[in-house]
Amino acid sequence: MAGESSGLLADRGADVAAGIDAAFDRLLAVPDDARARLYEAMRHAAIGGGKRLRPLLVQATCDLFNISRESALRVGLAVECIHVYSLVHDDLPAMDDDDLRRGKATVHIAFDEATAILAGDCLHDLAFEILSDETAHPDPFVRIELVRALALSSGPAGMAGGQMMDLEAENARFDLATVTRLQNLKTGALIAFCVEAAAIMARLPHEARTGLHGYARDIGLAFQIADDLLDVEGDAALAGKALGKDAAAGKETFVSLLGVDRAREQAHMLVDQAKAHLHGYGAEADLLRAIADYIVERDR
Ligand code: IPE
Ligand code: IPE
Ligand code: MG
Ligand code: MG
Ligand code: MG
Repeated sequence: MAGESSGLLADRGADVAAGIDAAFDRLLAVPDDARARLYEAMRHAAIGGGKRLRPLLVQATCDLFNISRESALRVGLAVECIHVYSLVHDDLPAMDDDDLRRGKATVHIAFDEATAILAGDCLHDLAFEILSDETAHPDPFVRIELVRALALSSGPAGMAGGQMMDLEAENARFDLATVTRLQNLKTGALIAFCVEAAAIMARLPHEARTGLHGYARDIGLAFQIADDLLDVEGDAALAGKALGKDAAAGKETFVSLLGVDRAREQAHMLVDQAKAHLHGYGAEADLLRAIADYIVERDR
């Protein structure tokens, strides 16, 4: 990656991460009553660590349309709530049964399973509370569109549906087309929301969204291929989570189907294709280009 674009990524990334941490800190003040444990668990999951890639992607797409940093941050915060909830539940014994996340004990280890389930539920709810607040966008019609788009990308036609297919992938023999659909739902849908949210806030006509949709689809898939590659050949200390889990579970992934080399080639090809979809944009899309490069070069 060119030095200049990685500098842009580092600067804006640090900015967004600080904004997200500060916003969670304010929203999740611990009450002095019997719910304190629930808030503590939500704080444990949501504050500190994590690449904050989804909020950064919202900001980067908002750059194209001069949308306020405040709106972009609130929408990024909402999608990060859904993402963090999905991680808390993904790590539960009933799912991937993981002890480590973002370099810390997972919520059910640091607290207990029931608390982790409730903390995940509440982070899910918090996402929609944030999106429906006027700080997300002054226009209520835009807000309802954002709420609907995030709901669709999180539910059975999005992330949760992909998680169901992912569980099935431990026992079924899926072909490449089915694994692609699984990953598009499990990871791609929420990533696509980040880009779509900016188009919604900009009230961009649907016919003008084709390039952005192509970009989002390609980086979403590349992102999950990179996650599957890290699971095979990453460094667990850097990743902050247990690796080698997919093969141990006999899970069908891009890497199990294509092998490491072809999977990596495919991820790079997708990133090139993603950047080609941005050809109509100038320097205002540089952060989106840098994010695409980062997605396959990352080590965590
Ligand atoms: C991990 O997501 C789970 C997947 C969807 C593959 P990230 O790699 O974005 O995790 P954090 O947010 O940086 O911890
Ligand atoms: C989880 O996928 C994706 C979610 C929707 C949470 P993984 O199970 O591969 O994510 P990691 O590897 O635990 O982060
Ligand atoms: Mg999983
Ligand atoms: Mg997992
Ligand atoms: Mg994984």
